[in-house]
Amino acid sequence: MSPYKTITTDEKSSDVVWHEASVTPAQRESNNGHQGAVLWFTGLSGSGKSTVANAVDKMLHDRGCKTYILDGDNVRHGLNKDLGFNDVDRIENIRRIGEVSNLFVDAGLIVCSAFISPFIADRAMVRALLPETRFIEVFIDTPISICEQRDPKGLYKKARAGEIKNFTGIDSAYEAPDAAEIHIKTAELSVEMCAKQVINYMLDNNIISAK
Ligand SMILES: Nc1ncnc2c1ncn2[C@@H]1O[C@H](COP(=O)(O)OP(=O)(O)OP(=O)(O)O)[C@@H](O)[C@H]1O
Ligand SMILES: [Mg+2]
Repeated sequence: MSPYKTITTDEKSSDVVWHEASVTPAQRESNNGHQGAVLWFTGLSGSGKSTVANAVDKMLHDRGCKTYILDGDNVRHGLNKDLGFNDVDRIENIRRIGEVSNLFVDAGLIVCSAFISPFIADRAMVRALLPETRFIEVFIDTPISICEQRDPKGLYKKARAGEIKNFTGIDSAYEAPDAAEIHIKTAELSVEMCAKQVINYMLDNNIISAK
């Protein structure tokens, strides 16, 4: 049985009826002056997801865009504090973040979601939740040797010492995207250039417009 099946709530939701909102997503986007979208940052720990996502968020905010950031540990402090790190909980963690991202996109926001999200199937699940073209996968592609040198949270050191189990890239797999909309090599570019690469993609695809 698929692990997704164990966490779906279809059975419980059979009497719930969707109520159409009076203000449409298109009307919200028109007010905001840009499309709603989720920028889904994926990559190893220390690859630069949070750093680049925050730089993008700041650039978009400075352009007057309506934005929000969803970032790893912060979500586990609240919405997902009941979840651990076993396979079912990891999937549920990403599913909830995907659903929250979807609501923000429906509200016309540009959401930067920064989670390792190491598995192709989980990222595909979130992509499938969102309207087509509104899920933009941003692969923060940094060699593990550089992530480990940076080690901003000291996590690689702990993982190498055996103090953290199932650490992505060491004793748990990272499945790199093969067709991410945006592919960023942080070892070759400054943080500002990485963020500009995302902004340029959004301009080229008419998600935001030139000022
Ligand atoms: N071009 C770059 N882009 C992003 N980060 C960079 C770059 N060059 C150096 N860094 C540094 O790399 C580190 C990336 O850490 P960051 O917390 O953003 O990683 P993360 O992918 O969010 O990790 P985690 O999954 O553990 O939250 C920071 O210390 C940042 O200053
Ligand atoms: Mg981070």
